[in-house]
Amino acid sequence: MIDVNLRNKAMEMVEEYSGIALSDPYYPSYHIAPPVGLLNDPNGFIQWKGTYHLFYQWMPFHTGHGAKFWAHLTSRDLVDWAWQEPALAPDEWYDRTGCYSGSAVEKDDELLLFYTGNVKDDDGNRETYQCKARSEDGVSFEKVGVQIELPDGFTPHFRDPKVWKMRNEWYMVIGAQTEEKEGCIVLYRSEDLDSWTYEGILASGMGYMWECPDFFRLKDDVLLFSPQGLEEKGIDYRNMYQSGYIIGDFDKGFPEEKFRELDHGFEFYAPQTTEDDQGRRLLVGWMGMPDGGEEYFPTHDNHWIHQMTLPRELLQQGDRVIQKPVEELEKLRTDKLVEENSGSFAGNLPRNIELIMREIEEDIYIDLYDYFSIRLEGRRITIERPAMDGSGKEWRAADLVSPLTEMRMFIDQSSLEIFVNDGEIVFSSRMFPDVDTHECRVKGRSSITAWNLRAEKGA
Ligand code: FRU
Repeated sequence: MIDVNLRNKAMEMVEEYSGIALSDPYYPSYHIAPPVGLLNDPNGFIQWKGTYHLFYQWMPFHTGHGAKFWAHLTSRDLVDWAWQEPALAPDEWYDRTGCYSGSAVEKDDELLLFYTGNVKDDDGNRETYQCKARSEDGVSFEKVGVQIELPDGFTPHFRDPKVWKMRNEWYMVIGAQTEEKEGCIVLYRSEDLDSWTYEGILASGMGYMWECPDFFRLKDDVLLFSPQGLEEKGIDYRNMYQSGYIIGDFDKGFPEEKFRELDHGFEFYAPQTTEDDQGRRLLVGWMGMPDGGEEYFPTHDNHWIHQMTLPRELLQQGDRVIQKPVEELEKLRTDKLVEENSGSFAGNLPRNIELIMREIEEDIYIDLYDYFSIRLEGRRITIERPAMDGSGKEWRAADLVSPLTEMRMFIDQSSLEIFVNDGEIVFSSRMFPDVDTHECRVKGRSSITAWNLRAEKGA
């Protein structure tokens, strides 16, 4: 049965429980998080008529997955976000078990959303429809309906359309699984954004499903996606699922052996990019991981779970994509807490800070709140925290290309983003230290600066 009152019911949940969610000490101060319920993928990221719009996969009724809405936020500066009415609710026959992930484009003054209508029956049979919605004011959205049905040769794991304009035409990539159960990305083309031509498989070759594809050009063409089913290999692919990119050529292909993970933290998935009017390629990711221990997070009882990463600017350096926190984030700084030139540090730090270490002279060890540690040995950086399921410790690692010169960390109550060497390596993770523990230690030699960051909760 389709419930036409879903939006009202969602807003009743916000009214009833967001006070509890926002007063959770783990609720972020300056990251996007849901007012209630579960947040996952960023969707529809676009700058439209000067304003940034970011949508996300939202389950308002509980802290698990299910029939997703598109929550909607707007911002003039990528720092302060205003909550708007939800853009899409799962209330049509073709999206009744979820308005799944997708993207936004502008055409003829309208803001258009492309998303996947997920339809799943009680026996788990799935149907998938690529759908469109339109808006003239960027506030209320009208569903146009189904644009693309499942082509032959693929299972119904066929979703997450990302649309862009190139060479005077529109293109769409979709994350898919072939009938042989191989992950791939499928390409469509359109002249008018109404009728679409199937162009074939753009890339494939590893894992059993690729989710949330994105395509853009830096110095070269970049294909970004989230493959599922990769085997752990040394320090690589240690999360449940991966997110990464292949630098290639749209016409000549994207060789699978060039795949690189974009972020090396414990929680990072389904990122999406857009280009803004300054020509910057911006990225936001979900600081979460499906099937990766989310059931153990301590925030369920307070009616919320998960958050976004900070917005980052992408640049290409050689054959790598690097990620820098957008410069607008400096606006978050209030007072300087630490300015230490002589080396190590030990003391109490609040949980909404930016920490910058420069002139790092030797191997370094950092302990944050008796919970999270960061270690540099040679060129390898290892992060460690208690395992979410309580079974000892868990770690992730990455190797630097160039010697360690700088580490910049953003800490926000229960999250930590580490940008190493100006974005050469990034680790995005959640952390749940005891709320009364504030002790931090840095061993090694470096200069250390710490800023308090603004602490208003909730968009
Ligand atoms: C990725 C994903 C997408 C899907 C959405 C549903 O996290 O599984 O493939 O569209 O989440 O919420």
